[in-house]
Amino acid sequence: MNFRNFAIGLTASFGLAWLAVVVVPFFTMRDLAPVAFQEGIDAQTGIYHPKTAGRVVNGYEVYAENGCYLCHTQVARPTYAGNDLGRPDFAGLSADPDRGDTRRESNPFDYLGLDFAPIGVTRSGPDLMNYGRRLLRDHPADAESYLYRRLYNPRLDPAVAAWSNCPGLPFLFEKKEIKGQRSDRAVDAEVKAGYEIVPGPKAKALASYLMSLQHDDAVPASMNYAPATTNPEG
Ligand code: HEC
Repeated sequence: MNFRNFAIGLTASFGLAWLAVVVVPFFTMRDLAPVAFQEGIDAQTGIYHPKTAGRVVNGYEVYAENGCYLCHTQVARPTYAGNDLGRPDFAGLSADPDRGDTRRESNPFDYLGLDFAPIGVTRSGPDLMNYGRRLLRDHPADAESYLYRRLYNPRLDPAVAAWSNCPGLPFLFEKKEIKGQRSDRAVDAEVKAGYEIVPGPKAKALASYLMSLQHDDAVPASMNYAPATTNPEG
């Protein structure tokens, strides 16, 4: 093999992969065109406006710097690539009390405003794309305090205590002397008498980010296959 063929081969092997995986997605998704709902197919009309949950960027950074994406995905794959819509409440709730079946595939609008789409590396733990929905459904009265307890130490939840390898983040919490009344945010965990454990700013940011993970708003059927759409083409 001469150098010329070697150089061409090298460029083709790496260049084509780079084009397909980096360049093409970048140019197709950097400047997303608005998508319209279609009359007769979708339940609503007009342009799709993604629902955003205010300022969650701080919590997203805490999520990134603690490597949560190594075990948790945030993507309901298109159905040709895997049956994520069939997994229990990953892609939305199959029986939302107000809206019925809200499951849908992820789309590029779900990651608007973030530097990187936290689609995840492995799926050792459950997908978190709609964790906020599951949390509010399962812990309607005490979602926030349940979440602090779980972030402090997931194994405080008896349901998973025996086997969960989800890391606790005790370093995002502060041990504080109780002065007067206990803080209503205090984590219900064992600690020296007279002290309590309260979430620090990063734990609070991470909790509001996790609660904001509710990516199941209705999208135009043209963008998505979801069991609840009325798209005649399925
Ligand atoms: C070593 C892999 C691993 C890493 C890293 C990890 N998790 Fe987990 N996570 C799991 C597993 C396994 C479960 C399922 C058992 C459980 O509920 O604890 C889980 C469950 C969860 C749940 C509950 C999901 C549900 O649907 O009930 C949340 C919330 C969560 N993890 C948040 C985090 C956050 C935030 C981070 C980053 C600080 C993180 N995890 C990092 C493995 C991991």
